[in-house]
Amino acid sequence: MRDYYDARADEYDDWWRGTGLFADRDRPGWAGEVISSDQSERMLAVARGRVPGGRFVRADAFALPFSDAALDRVFSGHFYGHLAPAERAAFLGEARRLAPELVIVDSALRPGVAAEAIQERTLNDGSRWEALKCFFTADGLLAELREAGCGSGSPGAVGGGGAGVTGATVFAGTRFVAVRVPLR
Ligand SMILES: C[S@@+](CC[C@H](N)C(=O)[O-])C[C@H]1O[C@@H](n2cnc3c(N)ncnc32)[C@H](O)[C@@H]1O
Repeated sequence: MRDYYDARADEYDDWWRGTGLFADRDRPGWAGEVISSDQSERMLAVARGRVPGGRFVRADAFALPFSDAALDRVFSGHFYGHLAPAERAAFLGEARRLAPELVIVDSALRPGVAAEAIQERTLNDGSRWEALKCFFTADGLLAELREAGCGSGSPGAVGGGGAGVTGATVFAGTRFVAVRVPLR
């Protein structure tokens, strides 16, 4: 997936409205600085163009360069659904290390679409890539995260005030879903 998205960076803005998709959305009650991270320098270049003055860090999502409990919230946009089960567990562990809350935005499961598939994708230069792609219902994603141990912490440990003790759906649309869960 890393090499594929690095190769795709030039086309990404056309296909998916670019990385930094959620940078201009209101985030009620979510004060503070936003640090954006991706492993692809080329993807970050797209994002920097969309968010002048933003703070960007090139890093591996499984080993982010922040100290324990350094963040208020980890926000993942269209990343989790590319991960195999062992990678999901590793990512949740890394998010838990860093923050008391996780928000995941990912593609919505819709009629006629397989919930999970290895998709073959062809870039403008003709190169062909395979990527695991999963689609979610908000309830299904919440259930998976709870099964993985998210949302089992105490109410006092929840950051941001909106996730509740067991997590909550932020948005359930036809294109994407968003859920937030406490991590501790
Ligand atoms: C579908 S794109 C989503 C980009 C952006 N978050 C958005 O919502 O527009 C998936 C992104 O995950 C990045 N990625 C893949 N593996 C990664 C890893 N191990 N660490 C950090 N980023 C990774 C890719 O470079 C790519 O930009």
